[in-house]
Amino acid sequence: MLLLHGFPLDRTLWAPQLASPIPGVRTIAPDLPGYGDSAFVDVPSLDAWADWLAELLDTLRLDRVILGGLSMGGYLCFAFWRRHPERVRALVLADTKAGADSEEARGKRLEMRALAGDRGAAAVAEKMLPGMVGKTTRNSRPEVVALLETMMGRASVRAVQESLDILRQRPDSIATLGTIDVPTLILCGEEDVLTPVAESRSMHLAIPHSELALIPAAGHASNVESPVVFNSLLAGFVSANIGG
Ligand code: MLT
Repeated sequence: MLLLHGFPLDRTLWAPQLASPIPGVRTIAPDLPGYGDSAFVDVPSLDAWADWLAELLDTLRLDRVILGGLSMGGYLCFAFWRRHPERVRALVLADTKAGADSEEARGKRLEMRALAGDRGAAAVAEKMLPGMVGKTTRNSRPEVVALLETMMGRASVRAVQESLDILRQRPDSIATLGTIDVPTLILCGEEDVLTPVAESRSMHLAIPHSELALIPAAGHASNVESPVVFNSLLAGFVSANIGG
């Protein structure tokens, strides 16, 4: 199982899932290009990232994987599915959405890009933090809020700006949903304000073999805000859909 982090996070987002392995499943959480320990790749498109991932699978000698992504990681799952469907056994789409950016959202990406250039990743982290977690986490789990702020704040400005271009220009994936013919788990924190539950419900209606599970008292970073529930939903899905 390959798990793809969101923006502007890194592989350590998935620490709660790596700490609770699913029996019989090898779980890999890479840093996307430019994040954490992965080198920067100057090709600003999700398709280029999808091909980068396919090369990673080649290197790891993995033909087919359960592919999961949170938010931006989910956008990348759609691109990967379009380009390399034969390598996907199942999909896990967490706190993500299929639509492209609106004109207003594109404008905000450009503002964020300028902010990153002027004041660095910490300023981007400060701006994104309110949407990153749900109200329950914000009010009662300061350590989770701090963890996410630190993770975002250490991203490289180059990667942040490249990702903002990728996110702003990403294609609409709504037409892709009906083509997905592998088991798909859609997860969403009930308090997610960045990619609200309504987005997950729409994906669930459009993806033929999908199941939807909502995670109470969690927001956008549902896998770290409510890891026990997230992990148990993930393990249940894998054991029900993936045979030996
Ligand atoms: C993410 O968590 O990856 C971002 O919120 C995605 C986005 O900004 O569209």
